[in-house]
Amino acid sequence: MDKNTELINKANEIIEKNRDIAEGDYYRLKYHIMPPTGLLNDPNGFIHYKGEYHLFYQFHPFDTTHGLKYWAHMKSKDLVHWEELPIALAPSKWYETHGCYSGSAVKNDGILTLVYTGNVKDEEGNRETYQCLATTEDGIQFSKYDNNPVMYNQPEGYTRHFRDPKVWKKDGLWYMVIGTQTVKEEGRVLLFKSKDLKDWELVGEVAGSNLNDLGYLGYMWECPDLFSLNGKDVLIFSPQGIEAKGDLYNNIYQSGYFVGKLDYSTGKMEHGEFIEIDRGFEFYAPQTTLDEKGRRIMFAWMGLPEREEHPTVEHKWIHAMTLPRVLELKGSKLYQKPVEELKLLRKDQVTYKDILIDNEEIILQKISGDVLELLVEFELEDANEFGIKLRCSEDGKEETVLYYDRNNEKFIFDRNKSGKGYKGIRRCKIPNTNILKLHIFMDRSSLEVFINDGEEVFTGRIYPSKESLGIKLFAKEGKVKIRNISKWNLE
Ligand code: FRU
Repeated sequence: MDKNTELINKANEIIEKNRDIAEGDYYRLKYHIMPPTGLLNDPNGFIHYKGEYHLFYQFHPFDTTHGLKYWAHMKSKDLVHWEELPIALAPSKWYETHGCYSGSAVKNDGILTLVYTGNVKDEEGNRETYQCLATTEDGIQFSKYDNNPVMYNQPEGYTRHFRDPKVWKKDGLWYMVIGTQTVKEEGRVLLFKSKDLKDWELVGEVAGSNLNDLGYLGYMWECPDLFSLNGKDVLIFSPQGIEAKGDLYNNIYQSGYFVGKLDYSTGKMEHGEFIEIDRGFEFYAPQTTLDEKGRRIMFAWMGLPEREEHPTVEHKWIHAMTLPRVLELKGSKLYQKPVEELKLLRKDQVTYKDILIDNEEIILQKISGDVLELLVEFELEDANEFGIKLRCSEDGKEETVLYYDRNNEKFIFDRNKSGKGYKGIRRCKIPNTNILKLHIFMDRSSLEVFINDGEEVFTGRIYPSKESLGIKLFAKEGKVKIRNISKWNLE
């Protein structure tokens, strides 16, 4: 048996052994992508190919820790119903002995081609990093390119933290961004170009930490993604080493973006400030693709590195993907909207209109549950705080609170009383307007909250007990009107 088959069989064995244990977990999500067992991290190779969306992810089948990484593979016609396909990549070659790390997918003359990082570490902890190709004829079985790797280690001046190629084509040439750090430990994104995906030439530095008046933005930048939107260029990346500053950068690592203009001849991007993409807790390593409808769609890992103490580990699985979100640019700000196709999951609509809440907490008949979508439109009268409590227990001990603090003009996600798992509060400025629209996607153990048509998004995992299904609406020190609230169960 060849090494590849052997590694895939080994993974399949453990997946089948543990699948029922994972399936038996109440916290299993109902409409998000999750690993069958083991650990999921970055979305990889996201592409619309022959009318179907393919999404791969970083996968450690053997444990809920960051071990030997494979590429798991899913596909879908509608971004909502996903089919699990056989493992696409296993770390079987000399240039990837410690994992097939993150990367992207392109159509090269119609052939689906993966571009990824082969990660090698020896006993002394020395790292080698190789960029590699793999192709498929049938969209299921992948063959690694015979002359892999196509890039050996990093150019001079950078360390071997050099990985996560994102590739696209422009004016007949292939371009690739890679995340890295300088020998002085400053995060960087580099641009390369190629005629054939095989011979790559460095163009230059796109952006980096300590490169301009934005100052220090971390020691390592992972998972870059560069694309154009509304005539501007957007660089998404996941920097490590930025310190918390007030409401900003409170997670262990960040994911954010620059908007500007890339000079393809020098590689340099003129850009504005660094903006966090998501204001919640678990969100990292986003990756986008352009689909055949012309939408720029993003998935992200609904998890973070070095945060492996989620209650799901006792059921032998950890982490999930966010929902797919469409990106739009308004000025220099990214807006995120859940894809339209998610409406396919809706059933049992319940709607109420024009309810005044006056310094009180109310419950509405049939508005409760643990797998649902909620649209709430608040019209502020004179309350100082107002919002919604989700996953409330009858005794009032458990609740997850989403609310607006009018005096500080902040939206707040408080999971200190959410149940098991990591706790905390995240806040983000939302300038005072009379209307606050919340679009909430709740799954068994996740929340994604889109505010004011995607101006800000808060994502987080919560682990309440399964009896905590209550939903309450409240206003403090004054009144708020609910213009409209609609709820759907999702299936
Ligand atoms: C980001 C990351 C990538 C790397 C992958 C390994 O979460 O560290 O930089 O390619 O995960 O799984």
